[in-house]
Order: sequence, then C-alpha cells, then structure tokens
Amino acid sequence: MIIAANLKTNLTREKTTKYIKEVENFLSKNSISQEVFVFPAISSLNLHAGKIVVGAQNAYPAINGAFTGEIGYEQLEEFGIKTILIGHSERRHIIGETQEELVEKFNFYKNLGFKIIYCVGEPLNVREAGFEKMMEYISKQYEGIDCNYENLVIAYEPVWAIGTGLTPTVDDIVAIHKELKKKSSAPLLYGGSVKVTNAKEVLALDGVDGVLVGSAALYAEHFCTMCEYAQALGK
Ligand code: PGA
Repeated sequence: MIIAANLKTNLTREKTTKYIKEVENFLSKNSISQEVFVFPAISSLNLHAGKIVVGAQNAYPAINGAFTGEIGYEQLEEFGIKTILIGHSERRHIIGETQEELVEKFNFYKNLGFKIIYCVGEPLNVREAGFEKMMEYISKQYEGIDCNYENLVIAYEPVWAIGTGLTPTVDDIVAIHKELKKKSSAPLLYGGSVKVTNAKEVLALDGVDGVLVGSAALYAEHFCTMCEYAQALGK
C-alpha cells in the first residue's frame, strides 16, 4: 500500500529533517515494507536516503528559466526528487491552477519519468448535485491525463473533506473508487481527513490502495501508526 504525508506549508527545514528521521527509524524498526512518501514544503527539501521517498508538492514545468517564485526540475534534481504531487485541490482552488496548466505540468514531469501522484476530487456543491454530476465533474479532471502512465498514482480527495474533519461514508468511498478504477488501473489513494482513528477502516476498503494524509500526518507518531496499519493489512 501507499502511505503519503502532505506536509503542505508546515514545518521548517530543521523540523522536517527531524520528522523524516523519526518516521524512517520507525519504518526500519518495524520492518515496514509499504511505500511511504513524504511531501515537505519546498524550502525544506533535503537529500535523503532511506525507505521514505521524498517528493515535491509542486514545481513549474520547466528545467529552469525566468519563472519568478517558482522552482523547476533543476532545483528538484539537486535533491534527487523524482516524485511530484499534481492537481491537489489547494492548487486547483486556492492557487487557481487550471486543468490545462495541470496537464502541461503532468506531461512535463511524465516525460522526465517522475512518479506522479495526481489528485482529483469534487467540492461540496458538486457532491450535493448527486452521484452522476459528481462523476462528470471528476471525469473532467482526468481530461488530458495519461491514465496508463506507468508511474501514475491517483488520489481521490473530496475538497470538502480536506482539513475539515468530514469524510464520505465508507460506502461512498468504495462506490467512488469503483468508478474511478474504471478510468485507470493506477493505484488509487483516498485523502481527506484521514487520521489515526479512521485510517484502519479506510485502508481496509475495497479499491483503496493507500492514503494521502495532511493535518494528521504532521504528527510523526500518528503518521507512523498509519504506516503500521497498512503493514498489518498487507494488501
Ligand atoms: P487533510 O489533507 O488530511 O488535512 O484533510 C489531505 C490532503 O490535503 O492531502
């Protein structure tokens, strides 16, 4: 299974280094063989060797150049980063990235062979419009994306569940994942208010190949417990 921590705009470089060390020690001590990803803030990236795969939360689709405030492949390469999150709802809805921009980013990093965790998910008003409308909305987020890309992982994250403590019912997660699996056979993660108290249940669901965790992953101890749950399930 895949257990991923999205640290967002949290933790300094020093705290991130401590965090990664703590998780790394836990994984070794407990012989965790699951795929574990950590996405630190860009300024907290560092060289890392171990079980954890460190990825970038974002990067511009360029090797380098005149893109003030952005980082490109050259800056990721310095830290051996070969994994990137694309399409996170905070980038779509707060930063305003369009599907076209995300497709450009996707193709750029795909051509460089990156592992891409591509996020999809609907806002509350779309969810309230019913299952069909919701699937239509999510389908648009697949437009232009190569669903057969070998290094693709998809994360289904309902926007209204991110950082709110709300989650869909387990039946909803199963039903949506079943639909999404028809679009791509890539591993499919669930994200949105996953925490120690619900991770075991979510990880065990049919069609769930892992979780993408934000707030609850900020506590290394909690994140480690979730890795342990995934290991115990041995899916
Ligand atoms: P959350 O965030 O766990 O805080 O809801 C998940 C995410 O944004 O990936």
